[in-house]
Amino acid sequence: MYSRRRFLQAVAALAVSTPPFRSARAQTYPFALGVASGYPSPSGITLWTRIAGFQLPVPVKWEIASDESLRTVLSSGEAIAGPDWAHSVHVDVQGLEANRWYWYRFTAGDVQSPIGRTRTAPGAAAPVERLRFAFASCQQYEQGYYGAYRHIVADEPDFIAFLGDYIYESTWGKEHVRSHGAPQPYSLEDYRARYALYKSDPDLQAAHAACPWLVIWDDHEVDNDYADNRPEDGMEPEPFLRRRAAAYRAYYEHMPLPARMRPQGPHLPLHAGIGWGRLARVYMLDTRQHRSWQACPRPKRMGGSNTVDVETCTALAAPGRSMLGRAQERWLEGALRDSRAGWNVLAQTTRMAQFDQQPGPGRRAWTDGWDGYPAARDRLLAKLKEASNPVVIGGDIHAFQVAQLKLDFEDPDSPAVASEFLGTSITSQGWPQERLAQFLPDNPHFLMADSRYRGYTRVEVTPKRWLADLRIVQTVQTRDTPCSTLASYVVEDGRPTPVAA
Ligand SMILES: [Fe+2]
Repeated sequence: MYSRRRFLQAVAALAVSTPPFRSARAQTYPFALGVASGYPSPSGITLWTRIAGFQLPVPVKWEIASDESLRTVLSSGEAIAGPDWAHSVHVDVQGLEANRWYWYRFTAGDVQSPIGRTRTAPGAAAPVERLRFAFASCQQYEQGYYGAYRHIVADEPDFIAFLGDYIYESTWGKEHVRSHGAPQPYSLEDYRARYALYKSDPDLQAAHAACPWLVIWDDHEVDNDYADNRPEDGMEPEPFLRRRAAAYRAYYEHMPLPARMRPQGPHLPLHAGIGWGRLARVYMLDTRQHRSWQACPRPKRMGGSNTVDVETCTALAAPGRSMLGRAQERWLEGALRDSRAGWNVLAQTTRMAQFDQQPGPGRRAWTDGWDGYPAARDRLLAKLKEASNPVVIGGDIHAFQVAQLKLDFEDPDSPAVASEFLGTSITSQGWPQERLAQFLPDNPHFLMADSRYRGYTRVEVTPKRWLADLRIVQTVQTRDTPCSTLASYVVEDGRPTPVAA
């Protein structure tokens, strides 16, 4: 996509440009982090880039067109990329036509960005025959290449939903193919560098340029297992919130988030609802920023996850505990109540179905997933029972898991109220399969659980059915890898349970 020759041209072009380019000469190709788009509505889309190599504010021109060579430009303008926001550009384009593809490009000085492809959503009342999307999560940079994205792009999805762990703050795992080259980030500069490193990956850039993205974060965008203002280690809330503010700011600077999500200090309003005509509505949920602290942390820890006996850890079931925070819960309840969509898709980060981790009698629960927030899960599942075709999607566990969501997981006769699909990781390493499989007999509401593969989930939604293909890559040791379908599951309209296809 980008050649050495073009790099030299870019530097030469910037060197002879008018101010402020002369005084703020680029040291590198300004679009080295690529382009992206996100949050399609029937009339608009957010365009993103972050230009590199400048110190002073730089005007960046944007154009959006109806054709791939940008002959017919429909809208254009100029944004200022300033140092306060790491020279990132977020343009909320409005006035577009519903349900069609567009192409866009940025220009800084005389240097043009790669051309990105994006699209608008269908109008709210429009009947829609088909939606195709992919969801992905967990892309530890050191543990593999992002070959999965080549196959996502080849699938030509309408959008990609990314469900958390876009970066990792820490180095872990084995068989590394590349290095963070830096310790854990704490400062704004640290997080900016970490995001820039991840975004330098050409396959990730190509996926961002291919279609709009919807994004939510999990813990590793800030720190392992944090909850609201509490990290797992001994850091006090105040310095931790400063760290969170740096991480959230860098997240905004590197994602195609609409301007309304611009963070203020440690606060970033991430949750969002995206409509796809009468066919579907997707709720992007924030399960980190507003959650109650995990119950019963490990000995000598202030916070963070644990695997606990549910009888002993009595704090677990306290009714006031929330995964989303009460404000987001109320927003979601209202959105579900008002939804006219045939399918209601809850995109969140972690496992929602109960997963007993004690073979035989008794039950052990992992406190970082929804098992750590049972009262909040009960409240949500009661609402999902009233919703049209609710499907929950998630990531986090670096494994595929397909489950029925039930009002009472202990009762085999309790009916399913929704379906859950957990997607495996893009690269992050998972549990050994034997460790996961040993728990399946105690969790009969799970149709499958498989931690052996890396990949993504491809979804096709029509008015009659939801089809999920669990896609696996052969290796993450090379960029170029074959990809195949491990298994497919269907949810039929009006029947809230997944069925093997
Ligand atoms: Fe992860």
